[in-house]
Amino acid sequence: MTSLSIHHIGYLVKKIEKAKDTFLSLGYQIEQDTLRDEIRKVDICFLIKDGYRVELVSPYAEDSVVSGLMKRYKNSPYHICYETTDFDAALTDLTAGGFIAIDTPTPAPALGGRDVVFLSSAVLGMIELMS
Ligand code: NI
Repeated sequence: MTSLSIHHIGYLVKKIEKAKDTFLSLGYQIEQDTLRDEIRKVDICFLIKDGYRVELVSPYAEDSVVSGLMKRYKNSPYHICYETTDFDAALTDLTAGGFIAIDTPTPAPALGGRDVVFLSSAVLGMIELMS
């Protein structure tokens, strides 16, 4: 298996500004303030605490990629994102290991345009892979 490093924990929230304020009150710091991802129709913000990075993800349109997840999970962590130095090899390894890609690699504006893809496992649920 290609080496993977944890980059962030994705956290679904309905109200991103209120959620951000609440994370700040817990001692998190803003790493990257709210940006709009018009490909996925979500607002995204990155927070850091104790070396852990949390990504707040909030849909701003009914047809956002996470609108269905929001109905199911409400406000909740919903993915761990892994970064790798060899994206194609990692994607091949994960797929061989039982993960199924649920979208195609697409640039993420909130991550400096780096490619990301979401994968699902019957035993782990959803993960994100980042180039
Ligand atoms: Ni993410």
